Amino acid sequence: MDLEAIQQALNHLPLGPVRFHRQTGSTNEDANHWAQAGAPDLALVTAEEQTQGRGRLERRWFTPPGAALALSLVLRPDQTPVDAGRPQALARLTALGALAVCSALEDISRGELQPEIKWPNDVLLERRKTAGILVEISWEGERFTSAVLGIGVNVSSQSVPPANALLFPATCVEAALGRSVERLELLGAVLERVLYWRARLNSDEFLQAWQEQLAFKGEWVQISRGDPSGPTMKNARLVGVRMDGGLELIDREGKLITLQTGEVSLRPVEK
Ligand code: BTN
Repeated sequence: MDLEAIQQALNHLPLGPVRFHRQTGSTNEDANHWAQAGAPDLALVTAEEQTQGRGRLERRWFTPPGAALALSLVLRPDQTPVDAGRPQALARLTALGALAVCSALEDISRGELQPEIKWPNDVLLERRKTAGILVEISWEGERFTSAVLGIGVNVSSQSVPPANALLFPATCVEAALGRSVERLELLGAVLERVLYWRARLNSDEFLQAWQEQLAFKGEWVQISRGDPSGPTMKNARLVGVRMDGGLELIDREGKLITLQTGEVSLRPVEK
């Protein structure tokens, strides 16, 4: 990939300015600095390789050169209709990224791939993590001034971290699809779908798509504090996602519990 090829692949989309790095620390870090310096809505940072890629819960995110997508998009509030408080805005924008990746994978595979969202921020193919979303929001009081929507997608096998570095099984798009994937095409599809879903952030269609795409519905999951290797809080059957982004589950005693995006992770209970 290079800047010219990226601009050409994206020229049908109403995006802001694009920055491309062969190698950078983290595109989220770059986009945050750019946002502080006045980057407009939909300014995009993308990179071939990240050396300090970051994930949720202060985890590292692996982006070796040429094998993945790493992109960060600046979102400004006027064009981003999340009229909610902090946890809800974070949940909704995270879902925006996850839904966009799911829709894009369905589009480029002509429906062959069936991606799912592992609440709150992972995209799974064949029950293995294939993409992750990291949203970072800057607030002034109760109003957000900018958000950075960071998306990382494992495209070819070199992008899948070694098994001993994994907290949850992982795969890549090419392994799930059984053929090679043009990263520029996937990049265009993801961004097209971000625009599509952003315009519908507060709609029933958005909530319904989120609900439909949710992994482990009706199944027993293990809820852990922190990452999936953290202490288990309890097992519960997953019901669905609420309008405010909370996840509803029913525990062994039949009690309804709601989790908010935060310091928790899910994994299916081994049968
Ligand atoms: C996670 O699964 O915990 C989220 C991973 C998010 C990774 C993406 S790659 C592009 C952007 N830049 C980063 O440093 N992180 C996000």
